[in-house]
Amino acid sequence: MHIPSTLAASLAFTLAAANSITFLSLDTTPRTACFYSAPSHPTIPNNSLPGKSTIHVPLPLDWEGSWQTTLNPSDCGPPGIRGEVRFDGYEGKTYYDVSAIDNLGDNSGVKFLYPASGTGEKSGCESFPCEGAYLHPDDKQTKVTVEKDLVCEVGR
Ligand SMILES: *[C@@H]1O[C@H](CO)[C@@H](O)[C@H](O)[C@H]1NC(C)=O
Repeated sequence: MHIPSTLAASLAFTLAAANSITFLSLDTTPRTACFYSAPSHPTIPNNSLPGKSTIHVPLPLDWEGSWQTTLNPSDCGPPGIRGEVRFDGYEGKTYYDVSAIDNLGDNSGVKFLYPASGTGEKSGCESFPCEGAYLHPDDKQTKVTVEKDLVCEVGR
């Protein structure tokens, strides 16, 4: 199949630029998402998440890092339950999990993380601590998908 080079280039750009997290805020509590980029990855601005909102946060090609939410916009607070992602990793796939490594029992924010199509594996739980989260550096809770957009459910 012949694809005109300009179209191929724009498709490649679209794919490359397509990483994102969509935050689904399930209750009425306003929060702020605080991002923690892995070393040498670009800093991501904190995003405000109003109650009952859907906020789409684009993330750069190859981005790796984590995030948690806080109720106080001027203080990201101590470590809580975090979403973690590595976009464009091995085989170009997206590796993701909800991590309770730093705080087993935080129920104030991040609950689930899963591919936006809704057909992939969910990481996380309604109520922490639980078995659906990444609990130890060697456990097998890291999920993988070919999708570039993840949904992070917050609250409730
Ligand atoms: C996010 O908010 C915290 C707390 O206000 C602040 O320390 C941090 O610098 C902010 N991050 C960015 C990227 O603005």
